[in-house]
Order: sequence, then structure tokens, then C-alpha cells
Amino acid sequence: VEENTFLKLLQRRRSVRRYRRQAVEAEKVALILESARLAPSACNQQPWHIVTVNRPPLIRELAQCAPFGTRINKWMADAPLVFVLCAHPHPLVHQAAQWIDKDCHRLDVAIAGEHMSLMATELGLGTCWIGWFSHKKIRRLLHIPDTYNILALLVAGYPGEGIRLDEPVDHDLRRKRLAEIVSWNAFGETNPPDQPR
Ligand SMILES: Cc1cc2nc3c(=O)[nH]c(=O)nc-3n(C[C@H](O)[C@H](O)[C@H](O)COP(=O)(O)O)c2cc1C
Repeated sequence: VEENTFLKLLQRRRSVRRYRRQAVEAEKVALILESARLAPSACNQQPWHIVTVNRPPLIRELAQCAPFGTRINKWMADAPLVFVLCAHPHPLVHQAAQWIDKDCHRLDVAIAGEHMSLMATELGLGTCWIGWFSHKKIRRLLHIPDTYNILALLVAGYPGEGIRLDEPVDHDLRRKRLAEIVSWNAFGETNPPDQPR
């Protein structure tokens, strides 16, 4: 079997929570943003807006934006880059809006964000999704309009010493087995049929 380079990329990605202070080159940032632009979205609405934060003092402030005063995510303060993933709900004027959920914008952003994370991995950069933050604090800090929801942050940068992104993670230790998460043709049917009929 030929080596599957995409599978290898998926195996190499992991959440990185320790970064070098080194700035990320503009060309790499541009490629990460391009990977978001190419993502699919419901009805091709492309509802996203990505606030790219690369000023260290602003990133230090972002690291203070937990909903309440724990130390969760304070490590972000040293990262050189944070993408703030925003999107507006799908407008009801769209002809297909009666069939698609306005919450689809959340799916759209998740797809775009994971494109970005994988592109970053390909470029030798670490990333970490952040879901634990105060919308209110970030909205105020970055002047994000009320018409946009803030759905996640994606921290990125060169990984700290000792973190190797060129080697696969042993995901067998960290992920459920396929049989636990997949059914065939009906929920709970865990054995694939010999011949689909
Ligand atoms: C939507 C989402 C929100 C997350 N929020 C946080 C977060 O607030 N802080 C954090 O350190 N990691 C966060 N993570 C990272 C997960 O903890 C991590 O992806 C998971 O443990 C699997 O580890 P891996 O990414 O190294 O494979 C988040 C991941 C996702 C997808």
C-alpha cells in the first residue's frame, strides 16, 4: 500500500500549548488563511470572518479572556499568533434557509478552522483550538460586531522545545476504537456487511 501522506499529516497534528516566541512568517500566515478560504460551507455562504491577531500585547490580553479567573489557557500569552474564528448566522433570506439550520455557521467555521490547523501542521507549526473564553471580553477587545458570533480561537506558532510535529502521535492511546464510534446501515450495527446489497 502506498504511503498515505494525508493520513500521516492527521497523525502528526496534536494540540500544542507551549510555543517559541519566534514570529510566524507572513507567507505561512497567508497559506493558513487561504486554507480557510477554500473550505466548504452550507449553500456556499462563507459566513466566516477571521480576526488574525499577531501583536504580542493583544495576545497577552486574549490570554486573560477566560470566562472567570482560572489559569486555564493562560499559556496562550506566549504564542505568536491567534486566529479568532467568527461567523454570522445564515440569513433567512437565502432560498434554502428553510431547510438549513442557522446554526450551520458553526459547522462551517469548524471545517475552515480544521483546514487551518492541518495547513499549519504541514508548515511545521503547532496549533490549539480554544473553546474556553468569554465572548463578551473578546468582542470588546477586538471590536467584533454583534452580528458575528465568536466560535473559537485557534492558537498557532512554532512549538516549544521538545515538541516534535514531524513524528506521529500514538493515537491508539488517545482515541476511541472505530467500533465504538461507527455503525453500518443502522445505529448500533457495528459489523460491516460482507457485501453491500
Ligand atoms: C472545539 C474545541 C475546543 C477546545 N478548547 C480548548 C481549550 O479551551 N483549551 C485547551 O487547552 N484545549 C482545547 N481544545 C483542545 C482539546 O483538548 C484537544 O483537541 C483534545 O484533547 C485532543 O488532543 P489533540 O488535539 O492533541 O489530539 C479544544 C479543542 C476543540 C476541538
